Amino acid sequence: MFISFEGTEGVGKTTLIRKLFDYFQQQDKEVVLTREPGGTPLAEQIRSLLLSVSHDEKMSHDTELLLMYAARAQHLEQIILPALAQNKIVLCDRFADSSFAYQCAGRGLSRDKLKLLNDNFVAKMPDITFWLDAPIELGMTRARERGALDRFEQEKVSFFEKVRSGFEEIHTQNPNRMKRLDATQSPEQVFAAALQYL
Ligand code: TYD
Repeated sequence: MFISFEGTEGVGKTTLIRKLFDYFQQQDKEVVLTREPGGTPLAEQIRSLLLSVSHDEKMSHDTELLLMYAARAQHLEQIILPALAQNKIVLCDRFADSSFAYQCAGRGLSRDKLKLLNDNFVAKMPDITFWLDAPIELGMTRARERGALDRFEQEKVSFFEKVRSGFEEIHTQNPNRMKRLDATQSPEQVFAAALQYL
């Protein structure tokens, strides 16, 4: 089973993933915890490029999209597909839906570009995706409390509103795969809601 977790900044994805990881381990299931962009040494290097704020030049939106998919291709081949082939449970902090929400809905890149990448480089979509949804301000306050902001976290509220509407669109179009969790609830309540869907 391939499970991904999506949402804007600071909505508590990491807390939910940890809880589910512990839950599956207690059941003696083989479970892999991973994240995007990243998940392999090479993909983590690409992540550093993507999140770094110290660029002397502005990263173009196309470069950002292509780096996301370069990291994803590596991650799929090295980690996700082999783990699924061994019947492991894969818990992935963000996946291709983030590219639609951030690069298309947020940055304004065309859906055709994304479709081309998904059709050619994403052999497997998650079986279930949890979208942790909360008002943007709430998540941004949490993100600020965590310390220095990365390149995405420095974006304005209006950008994250667009990202949120991107997730909403995916949710409307894929109600079977993507489940919305109310991330204003306590971590225990969010966990219980996720378990019910599973
Ligand atoms: P992440 O570490 O999950 O950020 P956070 O913990 O703050 O939610 O992801 C890093 C950033 O990368 C995040 O701001 C969203 C962005 N991102 C994209 O823009 N497109 C993508 O395809 C992915 C996977 C992430």
